[in-house]
Amino acid sequence: MMKDLEKVLVTEAEITEIINRVSARIEKDYKGKDLVMIGILKGGAPFMMDLIKKINLALIIDFIRVESYFGGTTQGELVFRKDIEVDITNKHVLIVDDIIDSSRTLKMVIDLFKKRNASSIEVCTLLDKPSGRVIDYTPKYIGTTIGNEFVVGYGLDYYEKYRNLPVIGVLKEEVYKK
Ligand code: IMP
Ligand code: MG
Repeated sequence: MMKDLEKVLVTEAEITEIINRVSARIEKDYKGKDLVMIGILKGGAPFMMDLIKKINLALIIDFIRVESYFGGTTQGELVFRKDIEVDITNKHVLIVDDIIDSSRTLKMVIDLFKKRNASSIEVCTLLDKPSGRVIDYTPKYIGTTIGNEFVVGYGLDYYEKYRNLPVIGVLKEEVYKK
């Protein structure tokens, strides 16, 4: 697993630092509010699970799953695979994801939650890849910003693998040729 990495972009220590910093901000911002944290499966799950343990609030969690089908172009069709089960009416929603690239997934999820009359909708992402934006969006909580490279680990996959790496890194060229 680790041997397949060309380089490590975010170390375990840096991930811990991100979790501590972001969770402290969320705890402060949502004090006294009804907070529902919604993770985007599967990539957002490791970040979400580590984050919630550091937030000392009576929050509620749920998950949504959106799949994208990529054809010959980079514009894939997005399909909802699993909806949330909690009622978010008049609740403060915080969406948690692994990475924001084009923002297309996020826009679809935000639009859906808006229709359900949430009091507020914000986004917390471990990684932000602003160079990939198709739809303009700036998340409120960002772990760290990366350049235009494909990364794996800590939730992020390459053909469903590498999600369980404890770090975030770039794969060696030879891995793509397999
Ligand atoms: P977008 O913001 O709609 O383009 O989609 C973001 C989703 O694409 C993320 O939740 C990931 O599942 C996937 N993704 C984008 N960039 C990467 C990457 O560098 N590595 C792995 N998955 C990625
Ligand atoms: Mg994802």
